[in-house]
Amino acid sequence: MIDLINLSKHFGNIKAVDILNLSVSSGELFGFIGPNGAGKTTTIQMIGGLLAPTEGSVIIDGIDMAKEPEKAKKKIGLIPDRPFLYEKLTGMEFLKFTADLYEVSEEAFLENTEKILNMFSLIDRAHELIESYSHGMKQRLIMSAALLHEPLLIVVDEPMVGLDPRGIKMVKNLFRSLVAKGTTIFMSTHTLRLAEDVCDRIGIINNGKLIATGTINELKHTAQIGEADLEEVFFQLTEEEISL
Ligand SMILES: Nc1ncnc2c1ncn2[C@@H]1O[C@H](COP(=O)(O)OP(=O)(O)OP(=O)(O)O)[C@@H](O)[C@H]1O
Ligand SMILES: [Mg+2]
Repeated sequence: MIDLINLSKHFGNIKAVDILNLSVSSGELFGFIGPNGAGKTTTIQMIGGLLAPTEGSVIIDGIDMAKEPEKAKKKIGLIPDRPFLYEKLTGMEFLKFTADLYEVSEEAFLENTEKILNMFSLIDRAHELIESYSHGMKQRLIMSAALLHEPLLIVVDEPMVGLDPRGIKMVKNLFRSLVAKGTTIFMSTHTLRLAEDVCDRIGIINNGKLIATGTINELKHTAQIGEADLEEVFFQLTEEEISL
């Protein structure tokens, strides 16, 4: 579903992403972890077609993002870390606006919206202005908007930031049920416990380079630690010190 081929992004002298090669299969929940500044958001923005690579390619379901961006983007539901919302729209108006961008039919919109707003506990506030929403409510609205066109691929940067425990549990269950139906999810997170709980496979990025990929067990093997959790693997592979 996702093929990243020799993907690089340079900002001046900074190699934010440095010759990254990675394939993610259909129906896989892939977790992308790494220290601050490692290149996660930059990679996600290139996968979503928001940022052009310096070199290399992003292929989504066989479509080259650089050659057919509209076609590739239609397959993706992108949930950015710092979402942009029109504060003067109501939640419902924002969803309609997004649905129109993705050419969701009126029928599908009506059918999906109620279901999604219920799932994200937004139904009672759907007709209020977004500026009156709390941070977590805005986050839930962005996720609702990304799911409306039933994308084959969900690309999400730090999904759980700002969500309450009930929201986190709901999103975890939602992600698992979506991948069970064949949706692919590419998710960055700093919540290693979450990655360990829900991801089928994990990639660790450090200084723009993908330094390891695999299941939790495979990563433990790579880090040559036996009974360890993902946190220990993370510190070992990124050579960071645990500060208490
Ligand atoms: N627009 C930009 N201009 C210059 N440098 C940038 C820009 N965007 C990102 N960078 C740099 O690229 C590197 C990777 O940043 P990125 O935001 O991808 O990291 P990240 O892994 O998402 O980090 P975090 O965990 O803090 O979200 C950093 O060194 C960052 O300073
Ligand atoms: Mg980031």
